[in-house]
Amino acid sequence: MKWLAPVITVFTLAAACAPAPTADETREKLPASDLTSGYKFLQADTQALQDDDFANPGFLWVDRGRALFAAAPQQSKACAACHGEDGAELKGAAAHYPSVDETTGKLTNIEGRINLCRTRHQGLEPLDYETDDLLSLTAFVSHLSRGEPVKVDVSGPAEVWYRRGEDYFFTRRGQYNLACNQCHNDNWGRQLRGDTISQGHGTAFPGYRFEWQSLGSLQRRLRDCDAGVRAEPLAYGSDDYLAVELYLAKRAEGLPIEVPGVRR
Ligand code: HEC
Ligand code: HEC
Repeated sequence: MKWLAPVITVFTLAAACAPAPTADETREKLPASDLTSGYKFLQADTQALQDDDFANPGFLWVDRGRALFAAAPQQSKACAACHGEDGAELKGAAAHYPSVDETTGKLTNIEGRINLCRTRHQGLEPLDYETDDLLSLTAFVSHLSRGEPVKVDVSGPAEVWYRRGEDYFFTRRGQYNLACNQCHNDNWGRQLRGDTISQGHGTAFPGYRFEWQSLGSLQRRLRDCDAGVRAEPLAYGSDDYLAVELYLAKRAEGLPIEVPGVRR
């Protein structure tokens, strides 16, 4: 993680000369007027790749997801049978996720929502995170909301999840003892050897990263950030990461969905 060394230096220096209360306690939020997608901090050629539907490698998964969506599994119905050809009825849906599923009362992201449809409506087994099939279906469904501003419900049964995600965001962790907010609220825009720390929004995911040479889920990105501060990454689909997804979505409210994003 070549960007970490300078980050650590920055924080060590900051701690040495300014023993002010840490952001962890004050929980200072990003001012709405500053809201900026990570796209803005990409190099021009990476932005151009994201913008070109023919060159953007993420479309390999979107197209595969479209085919899976249309195909009826043996002795079962196709997604398209219930949600319209090319997912016409799911346009905009992903911009309101994660949300609480009424039947289970549990917070559900798009991956979880797809798996609920598989088990509940198709009689199929759930798919694992980062399998080609789940990535493809998630990319396809999320891409149907490309350009839609994020807007999530954090009231009622969602509120405890939101608070839980906020707690995670402001808690220092790992060998480097850093919290999400210290990079993504307090130091965004800072240049680190060619990498710029963004505000840490999830709106480009599932997204294609050069580092992965693949499309990956938002939770894979979160695992990389946790690993980056030498904390043990959580299991895919854990309640804490689901809660963080909701917190991030609320924090990004108004930014458009970019799926499939392209990132370093
Ligand atoms: C037999 C009908 C049926 C099939 C097949 C089906 N779904 Fe669903 N889907 C539903 C129903 C009904 C809901 C509403 C929530 C519920 O009752 O589970 C839903 C909800 C959803 C939502 C959330 C929509 C929203 O506005 O919040 C998504 C996304 C979705 N399905 C995707 C899929 C995908 C992808 C597949 C194929 C892997 C699929 N569904 C297969 C019936 C189906
Ligand atoms: C040591 C600094 C640091 C910490 C702490 C950190 N990140 Fe990151 N994060 C980065 C860097 C660097 C990137 C890649 C460049 C960027 O910011 O988009 C990144 C990327 C991201 C992205 C993708 C943004 C995009 O547009 O592609 C998300 C989402 C994210 N982080 C969320 C988090 C969350 C949630 C936490 C806490 C669990 C966290 N990060 C902790 C440094 C950090």
